[in-house]
Amino acid sequence: MSGETGAKRLNSGIRRGEQIEFYFDGQPLKAFKGETIAAALMASGHMVARTIDSQPLGVYCNIGVCHSCLMTVNGVKSVRTCRTQVTEGCKVETQHFERTR
Ligand code: FES
Repeated sequence: MSGETGAKRLNSGIRRGEQIEFYFDGQPLKAFKGETIAAALMASGHMVARTIDSQPLGVYCNIGVCHSCLMTVNGVKSVRTCRTQVTEGCKVETQHFERTR
């Protein structure tokens, strides 16, 4: 998948904020100010926010209810990335959960 902005964004009739750079699992990606982290990741082709028992989960509700999009942001665990704006230089990491039996 492409790491470039514009890969999955609407490109006509849209006014965007300033272009910025952030990091996803150490990989630099482009985004625009005002986007949520989840939106910026999806626009870059990254659909997995976390895993449970190695099974991938991505954005589900996109309104802050389901917690499917929890990721580590700047060292803070379990941030709802669908409700958090991406910022210049922020570090976003996939979270991995294991169920206890
Ligand atoms: S996708 Fe449901 S809380 Fe973020």
